[in-house]
Amino acid sequence: MISTTNHYTFGETDTAAQRLALLASAYQPATQAFLEEWGPSEPEHAIDLGCGPGYTTRLLHRMLRPRWTTGVDASPRFLQDAQRASEEDIGFVCHDVTQEPFPTAPADVLFCRFLLTHLHDPGTALRAWAAAARPGARLLVQETAWLRADDPTIARYYELVAALQSGYGQSLEVGAELDARVRSRGWRILSSRLVMLQQPAAVMAKLHAANLRTWGRDRLVQRSFDLDEVASVQAGLDCIASGEQPAHPVSNALRQLVAVVE
Ligand SMILES: C[S@@+](CC[C@H](N)C(=O)[O-])C[C@H]1O[C@@H](n2cnc3c(N)ncnc32)[C@H](O)[C@@H]1O
Repeated sequence: MISTTNHYTFGETDTAAQRLALLASAYQPATQAFLEEWGPSEPEHAIDLGCGPGYTTRLLHRMLRPRWTTGVDASPRFLQDAQRASEEDIGFVCHDVTQEPFPTAPADVLFCRFLLTHLHDPGTALRAWAAAARPGARLLVQETAWLRADDPTIARYYELVAALQSGYGQSLEVGAELDARVRSRGWRILSSRLVMLQQPAAVMAKLHAANLRTWGRDRLVQRSFDLDEVASVQAGLDCIASGEQPAHPVSNALRQLVAVVE
């Protein structure tokens, strides 16, 4: 990771990269429907903020058909994967999305998925994005508003990951309060809605088990979490992921917000 003022808790390991592949397939239908409905068609330049290994960049490019799409991320490791799988008319840039100026051409559409949750000051990032936008540009954001599980292991995982993110000034459920953060940051909201998903427990447990294998090593976890409990949540998630332990689906509300630059 290049130096940023934010700590990316979910890491850049091979396991973290594999998790992002699972994440991409679990959330592709909801993101695709969002882009279909709200993405301007055939813009000149689209930017995918916090693009990771490029799953969202390729989806954005295919759905909107811009002349050029740029994926921006602070992780050289993820960008290497993104470059390897890249398609024509897509480029990638290593940059901290909270910093102005952007080393890109101005954008007609800016998109981010599961990024603001990792920033301790989303307002600064939103202002930087407005500065990187062409007049009339559109911002499309998809973030978690909430996650609820009946299963006690998955529910405890959400409490732990929320505590970790809160320790770094970040919010797991940033989508719950997004409208207030977007307003007066150079953007006018056109639409803001919650999309409800029922995600299979095994899929979510697989995602979370991979994530815990990475953030379980975080210095804040090692210093102040109960490591026996972390190990037991890890084992429980593995059992649900493998199907050995059945569990009810996870209820997941996504915030899908659309704004236009002021
Ligand atoms: C959970 S991943 C989401 C990746 C992609 N948007 C998706 O949905 O598949 C979050 C991404 O944001 C990137 N990131 C976190 N903080 C960043 C920052 N300050 N500047 C640029 N990228 C950042 C991470 O490197 C990671 O690739």
